[in-house]
Amino acid sequence: MKVLVTGGTGYIGSHTCVALQAAGHEITIADNLSNSSPEALARIARISGTRPGFQALDMRDAPGLEKLFDAQCFDAIMHFAGVKAVAESVADPLKYYSNNVMGSIALFDSALRHGVTRLVFSSSATVYGENSRSPIREDAPVAPVNPYGRSKHMVEEILTEMCRANAGLRVMALRYFNPVGAHPSGLVGEAPVGTPNNLMPYLCQVAAGRLEELTVFGTDYPTPDGTAVRDYIHVMDLAEGHLRALEFLESHGGMHLVNLGTGRGTSVLEMLTAFQRVNQVPIPHRFGARRPGDTKETFADVALADRVLGWRTQYSLDDMCRDAWRWQKMNPKGYE
Ligand SMILES: NC(=O)c1ccc[n+]([C@@H]2O[C@H](COP(=O)([O-])OP(=O)(O)OC[C@H]3O[C@@H](n4cnc5c(N)ncnc54)[C@H](O)[C@@H]3O)[C@@H](O)[C@H]2O)c1
Repeated sequence: MKVLVTGGTGYIGSHTCVALQAAGHEITIADNLSNSSPEALARIARISGTRPGFQALDMRDAPGLEKLFDAQCFDAIMHFAGVKAVAESVADPLKYYSNNVMGSIALFDSALRHGVTRLVFSSSATVYGENSRSPIREDAPVAPVNPYGRSKHMVEEILTEMCRANAGLRVMALRYFNPVGAHPSGLVGEAPVGTPNNLMPYLCQVAAGRLEELTVFGTDYPTPDGTAVRDYIHVMDLAEGHLRALEFLESHGGMHLVNLGTGRGTSVLEMLTAFQRVNQVPIPHRFGARRPGDTKETFADVALADRVLGWRTQYSLDDMCRDAWRWQKMNPKGYE
């Protein structure tokens, strides 16, 4: 298939491009490079032997999108492009509704007019309410608590209504839990700008000596070791999930919502211990109070992904820690 990958130079997009090319698909990436580097293109080429097509493009640039769809025919779109920092979304909600919602509308509008009917959308577990009971099923109540989560849910709603109105559309929104790790080659990975907010990139930067110590926020949660529990998923498994979604849409129309997680909760302490053991690096850390807004436990129910996509995660927590650290060591300053 010829696939348009928006946001394809970013973290999850770049890994999915590698997987798409390995499966024989031809890809064009469209990205405004606001949170990624063109060096990712060279790295994807080094791993897969093919440099993807690339178009520097903002999703809100409707004439630019028209030009792209006029020039190339696509069988499908994987839509990763968007902004994703929860705290930033609270401080600057318009940035989130503009990039994530307006950008998606401009993309879908142009795609529809050019007859592209297959689409995989990057959604997030942040659409679920804070009080959802884990394992969280796709039919759990949706109640995002910040503009980022709301922007993702709005796009899901838009896609649902587009599918109601157009019988020929085939759409899958994938609700990712906590993507971590990197390609085992160490050539592509997550390159956060500024101080990371998430546990794994933070651990990597403490291990590398770029940050002094890790603070474990909250030790009195009602979890087995008192620290918060999340569902970390290796980015390689996530990329494979996208391939399965694309295959599924070959024979299934309408709107589909599917969780991508491992179905297993891992606590902050478990992750910290695994990282130190697997990589043989000490992580200076201290224990602090709970962070406002954090929940005790979130992990996915993955039965639907198994049933409809025939997909299950293959990579372990040790793989996540090993691959994240390899990427960090090989690229201490990201793609710079
Ligand atoms: N990483 C996570 O923890 C996570 C979890 C759930 C969902 N998601 C979603 O998955 C998608 C990919 O996430 P990621 O972690 O790879 O993030 P990323 O920032 O690494 O990649 C996103 C890419 O989109 C590009 N982009 C942003 N706004 C754009 C715009 N308006 N026009 C064109 N390009 C634009 C960025 O330059 C970047 O290359 C995002 O939509 C994100 O919301 C990510």
